[in-house]
Amino acid sequence: MVIDMRKGFGVWLTGIPASGKTTIARALETVLRENGLNVEVLDGDEVRKNLSPDLGFTKEDRETHARRVAYVTKLLVRNGVAVIVGLISPFRNFREHARKQIGNFVEVWVKCPVEECMKRDPKGLYKKAINGEINDLTGIQDPYEEPLNPEVTVDTSKESLEESVNKILRKLEDLGYINPKKTN
Ligand SMILES: Nc1ncnc2c1ncn2[C@@H]1O[C@H](COP(=O)(O)OP(=O)(O)OP(=O)(O)O)[C@@H](O)[C@H]1O
Ligand SMILES: [Mg+2]
Repeated sequence: MVIDMRKGFGVWLTGIPASGKTTIARALETVLRENGLNVEVLDGDEVRKNLSPDLGFTKEDRETHARRVAYVTKLLVRNGVAVIVGLISPFRNFREHARKQIGNFVEVWVKCPVEECMKRDPKGLYKKAINGEINDLTGIQDPYEEPLNPEVTVDTSKESLEESVNKILRKLEDLGYINPKKTN
């Protein structure tokens, strides 16, 4: 019997809409997979559709959804999976709950000024918020509580995608979750 129980971990990407969570999650997924890790991405819209079709965007619903995602992440992490979560998760106490549940937790603040996110607006959400078609967009009408002590902060208005991904990889190495020799 060959036992290769890798240490699982959860990379939790938090940030306002269009800050770059999905883009970074997919790029990080590619690198980790190339290095032979079992990877799952639990990203925003797709996870919401599957786990929480019953929920909207009130604070309570956002919290219930974040708790579901944290629970699924916990199950995967304890089975040695590298889990990458992309979730606005705007409230500090949601993220602290996830940290406690998951244990091997790497909080990444995907930082980007709202003005830049409004210019990007890949889903047209900011436009809708400004036109009054939606009234609960994080960063415009709903609050975003900035992380106080994230393991990693990436600023996607100043760094390239590659730089942001490398920062996360370096932190994963520092924390002993991945082997530096394999990820260079
Ligand atoms: N350095 C960068 N890192 C990540 N994304 C970047 C960067 N520079 C520009 N972008 C662009 O910013 C946009 C970010 O969109 P993305 O869908 O990844 O955001 P998101 O945080 O997942 O948003 P949402 O919360 O709405 O799902 C993309 O169009 C991406 O190409
Ligand atoms: Mg996204």
